Amino acid sequence: MLRILVLGAAAGGGFPQWNCNCPSCARARDGADSAAPQALQASVAVSADGESWFLLNASPDLRQQINDNPQLHPAHSLRSSPIAGAILTNGDVDAVAGLLNLRESTPFTVYAHPRVLRILADNPIFNVLNPAFVKRRELTLGRKEVLVRTDGSPAGLEVEAFAVPGKVALYLEDESKGDSFGSEVGDTVGLRISNTDDGQYFYFIANCVRLTPDIAERVQGAPLVFFDGTLWRDDEMVAANMSAKTGKRMGHISMGGPDGSIAAFADLGVGRKFFLHINNSNPVLLTDTPERAELEQAGWKIAKDGTEIVI
Ligand code: MLT
Ligand code: MN
Ligand code: ZN
Repeated sequence: MLRILVLGAAAGGGFPQWNCNCPSCARARDGADSAAPQALQASVAVSADGESWFLLNASPDLRQQINDNPQLHPAHSLRSSPIAGAILTNGDVDAVAGLLNLRESTPFTVYAHPRVLRILADNPIFNVLNPAFVKRRELTLGRKEVLVRTDGSPAGLEVEAFAVPGKVALYLEDESKGDSFGSEVGDTVGLRISNTDDGQYFYFIANCVRLTPDIAERVQGAPLVFFDGTLWRDDEMVAANMSAKTGKRMGHISMGGPDGSIAAFADLGVGRKFFLHINNSNPVLLTDTPERAELEQAGWKIAKDGTEIVI
C-alpha cells in the first residue's frame, strides 16, 4: 500500500501568481468557484506506514503545505517531524526552495541526482540544512534506492530515478552552450516510487518536454502517474503576452493537440492519471473551460491540495 498526499499541483509561481493579473489569477483572487483559490506549488508526499513521509520535491510553499496537512505535523518528541526525506527531480526554484524551511536541526535525508546535489553544494545557503542532521544521498539513474526513516531503518519504500528529457534549472541556463543551455542527463529525472513489501508503485514526472518511447514503456499499465501539466498549448504564454517562451523552450510538453501528453498517454493503460506543475496560464485550472472538460473526458484529474490517494 502507498499513501500519497497531494501538497500542490501548480507550477512555479502557484495560482494565483504574485505578480499576475491575468483573468484566471484575478478570478482565483476573487474566490470564484471555478478557480480553485489554493493551488500551491507542485509537490506530493508519500508514505508506506503513515509515520514516515517523503516529499517529492520541496516547493516554496512547503511551510504552508506542512501546516495545512496534519500528516506532516510533529507527533512525537518536543522537536520532531514525520518528514523523513525529500527527493528532488530537478534544481528549479519550485523544486528546491522549500528545503530552506527545514532548517532547524531535525534529521532527514535529501535524495537527488549528483547534478542536483551539486547545485545544493554550490549554494552555501543550503548549509542551513545542518550537515550533522541532514544527509544528502545520491540517486543513480536506473537503480533502486531504499528510503530510510530518520533512525536509519528502511521505511518500506524504494525510489528509482530515471532520465527524462528536460532542461537545466532556469537560473543555470548557459546561452553560450546553444539549444541545450548546458543541460545534461540528470538535470531532470522522473521517479518510480514503490512499496518494498507489496510492490505497489507509482510514477512522478513533474518536468518533461517529450514522452519518449522509454518513458512510455515504463509507465505503460502503471496504477498511477503524476505528470507535467505546465501548459495546455505550447505557445499559450506567448499568445497571452505573459512571456516570450514556448513550453518546449521551458522544458515542458503541453497537454493538448496531437503532440500533447493527453494523446501520448491515450493508449498506455495507466490506471489513474494526475496532472501537476500546472501553470496559471493553463485554462484547465478553471473548472468551467472546454480544455478542463477534455482533460477529464480523457481520464485525467487535477487533485485538490490536501487530497490523499491510497493505492
Ligand atoms: C520551470 O518549471 O520551467 C521553472 O520552474 C521555471 C522557473 O524556475 O521559473
Ligand atoms: Mn517549474
Ligand atoms: Zn495569471
